[in-house]
Amino acid sequence: MSRRQIKRRQDRRRASLGTGASGTAITRLRAGRLSPERSVPAQIVRPPYAAAPGSLAPTFSAGDFLDRMRRAGRAAREVLDEVGAAVAPGVTTDELDRIAHEGYIARGGYPSTLRYRGYPKSVCTSVNEVICHGIPDDRKLVEGDIVNVDVTIYLDGVHGDCNATYAVGAIDDRSAELIRVTHESMWHGIRTIRAGVALHEIGRAIQRHAEGHGFGVVRTFVGHGIGSEFHTAPSVPHYFDPHADEPIVVGRPFTVEPMITMGDWRVGPVWSDGWTAPTLDGSRSAQFEHTMVPTATGVEVLTAHPHEIASWLGETTPG
Ligand code: MF3
Ligand code: CO
Ligand code: CO
Repeated sequence: MSRRQIKRRQDRRRASLGTGASGTAITRLRAGRLSPERSVPAQIVRPPYAAAPGSLAPTFSAGDFLDRMRRAGRAAREVLDEVGAAVAPGVTTDELDRIAHEGYIARGGYPSTLRYRGYPKSVCTSVNEVICHGIPDDRKLVEGDIVNVDVTIYLDGVHGDCNATYAVGAIDDRSAELIRVTHESMWHGIRTIRAGVALHEIGRAIQRHAEGHGFGVVRTFVGHGIGSEFHTAPSVPHYFDPHADEPIVVGRPFTVEPMITMGDWRVGPVWSDGWTAPTLDGSRSAQFEHTMVPTATGVEVLTAHPHEIASWLGETTPG
């Protein structure tokens, strides 16, 4: 291919679709190239969907279920922080995948997404209008982008799942507000959690806050029960769904992971990769996620830093 052909292709990729509410040009993201599958050392214990055929199901003796969930949650947080610190203009999402992949293995864990229902990478990287499940590739992050990094580790037989949205260099004010309000919305939802309260109170609080700032709430993707399985019951909608009326149960972990859009909340056609889910209108989307477990008195957020918990839930330790 000639230089001019390459240039023309790049120009098409950057084709402007108009101007967004914030005054920033709306351009649609395009898929890049994937690197070869990353390997996982043989001694790392894999979840059943990624285990070698015929291998025996491992047993776990490293503490009770809640202890193992706490360790998986803390490890996921550490890996997410390592990846988040690497977000910068010029860095490829594949490089973020490499950092995550090595981070899980360094902690004795397996990258939960790798080979999960055919997913090819160790983390999800969702840029700009991608709502979730973006696949890391050779595209370099550009100043002004926003990128969600979703990290999940399988450690001691359980999954820990969390994500955050990061600014790439300097971003426009409305994108910064989108990130801030998405984070706030997640915590408004988490604050409603108490044993016996209906699950739909979480989504009601998230929706009220997000829509109060003129943003949309994605309906298609929801929070989920988590533990020895990556995704299990219950479903946790991030909007008010009256059908989600089952009571919150002590000791049963789940995630809260709202996806909030600058424009239309509807999901557009999933890319031909089978995973990447953009907004219908090309408007930006942000997301945050924590894994948590309801307790007798409230909720223990397993993937949050103590200072984040203190500022949103107050002091949780007695004395
Ligand atoms: N971590 C995502 C979640 O929050 C799930 C990613 S599954 C994948 O539920 F296959 F897309 F990686
Ligand atoms: Co999740
Ligand atoms: Co996740």
